[in-house]
Amino acid sequence: MHETEANRQAWGKLSKDHFERFDRGLKDGTKKLNPLVEQQLGNLRGKKVLHLQCNTGADSILLAKQGADVTAVDFVEDNIRFAQELARRNNADVRFICRDVQTLDEVLDEAFDLVITFDGVLGWLFDLPRWAKNIAKFLKPDGELFVHDGHPYYLVFDETKIKDGILEVKYPYFNETLEVDTMIGGYASDEKEAVNYFRSHKMSDIINALADAQLFVTRFLEFDRCDEGMGGDTKDDRGLMYLKHFEGKLPVGYSLWAVRR
Ligand SMILES: C[S@@+](CC[C@H](N)C(=O)[O-])C[C@H]1O[C@@H](n2cnc3c(N)ncnc32)[C@H](O)[C@@H]1O
Repeated sequence: MHETEANRQAWGKLSKDHFERFDRGLKDGTKKLNPLVEQQLGNLRGKKVLHLQCNTGADSILLAKQGADVTAVDFVEDNIRFAQELARRNNADVRFICRDVQTLDEVLDEAFDLVITFDGVLGWLFDLPRWAKNIAKFLKPDGELFVHDGHPYYLVFDETKIKDGILEVKYPYFNETLEVDTMIGGYASDEKEAVNYFRSHKMSDIINALADAQLFVTRFLEFDRCDEGMGGDTKDDRGLMYLKHFEGKLPVGYSLWAVRR
């Protein structure tokens, strides 16, 4: 699919900047796991974890430091190369795989206790049924999937107006088409020019893709705040971002747990 290839090239333009930013952050201790994610994942010691869409691996390394046996996947070759270097510099033992997560079953045949994916992930995928089937295949019986991402309801609003307290629907919730943008990045690097495609999936499409793959939702949480770079305009004392005009009023992020029975 040419959109996925365009995205792979677009993300590749950010690899070096992300590596340098996360390298500094891991060195000085400012790069931390999203507290909403860390709190829910709990004790990872000894768990076999598959981390999808890992970027240059900073979060994968932090998960490994908590005692998880981590395999991490991203489809940008430079991200994987930089992730391996970051792991080496941080004395972390993480296995990195370069692959589109929607076709990961073609190169990986293993079962995990936990599959996790978080912070800016599902909108880059265009075949959720295949993604979900892959995850079911990678989970041991009773293994769990954890997703934490931007809330599709929040993503309908015009991002340039919401910080002024104006809610104007720019991206219809029931839109089935892809959004095309000419700039990418900005959350852990400067923005770069690169055509890229994004699709905000309806919550029902996410849940039904999982159900069709025999993955059953066991918990669904909604938050009025998110990790830095994912939205919001004001930082709280945990480093999470919220919308000053809509604190406690709009869901900005969600978490979903599903189990393979
Ligand atoms: C917003 S980042 C989120 C990564 C991570 N949460 C972070 O903050 O570092 C999205 C990541 O998804 C990766 N990605 C996008 N589409 C992908 C696909 N089809 N398969 C694998 N990785 C993909 C990109 O390369 C990028 O690293």
